[in-house]
Amino acid sequence: MANRIHPSILNANLAALDDEIRRIPSADAIHVDVMDGHFVPNLSIGLPVVECLRKNHPDRFLDVHLMIENPDLWAPQYAETGVDSVGFHIEASQAPIRTARQLRSMGCRASLALRPQTPIEPVADFIAEFDQILIMTVDPGFGGQKFLDAMLGKIRRTREFVERSGADVWIQIDGGVSAATIDRCVDAGVNVFVAGSSVFGADDPDAMVRALREQADRRAAGGLS
Ligand code: DX5
Ligand code: ZN
Repeated sequence: MANRIHPSILNANLAALDDEIRRIPSADAIHVDVMDGHFVPNLSIGLPVVECLRKNHPDRFLDVHLMIENPDLWAPQYAETGVDSVGFHIEASQAPIRTARQLRSMGCRASLALRPQTPIEPVADFIAEFDQILIMTVDPGFGGQKFLDAMLGKIRRTREFVERSGADVWIQIDGGVSAATIDRCVDAGVNVFVAGSSVFGADDPDAMVRALREQADRRAAGGLS
């Protein structure tokens, strides 16, 4: 499975998002963090901005990460904008399977996100209901935090559950991804990497996207990086 780099625009210039997105043509997707100030102690952007991003960048893969309360109500409205993937947190959802099925019926990929303290085991029996599992490798809410090594076991177990299901479920991680942490995540079974500050803090963000992907591909192929 090819490795994908999804830069998070949370740490980009939020008042110039169109320009920021154009700076990373090599990205496999744009990771859009939506925060409501309740599910996480931070507020970012919402539905009207996501609608504009979809219109302004019709050819980019938009990977929305909802860190909000009541995602069963809101997630379909994000799918309605035509984004490619909508991720919502299991901790905030009353009906994750029903919401995932609704997203898929709208032609949108369904991604299930887990906070660091949330175990993957309860999801194992219905993991094939999702197109992606998003394992947070920091407490959600802010960019620039330190990668939590303690998540590697959960990532490995998620990879086992996905392989056992036989379904094509992407495993995404989000938080603290950089050249220093990406190898151990590849080893644990991740194939989709969200990277915020390591990409937008680089002198050349697009070169960093390519470098991270090449490093992950090399590692997955068993080579030294
Ligand atoms: C954090 C967000 C992330 C964040 C990642 O809650 O979900 O997408 O932007 O930023 P870095 O890569 O800097 O940890
Ligand atoms: Zn995110």
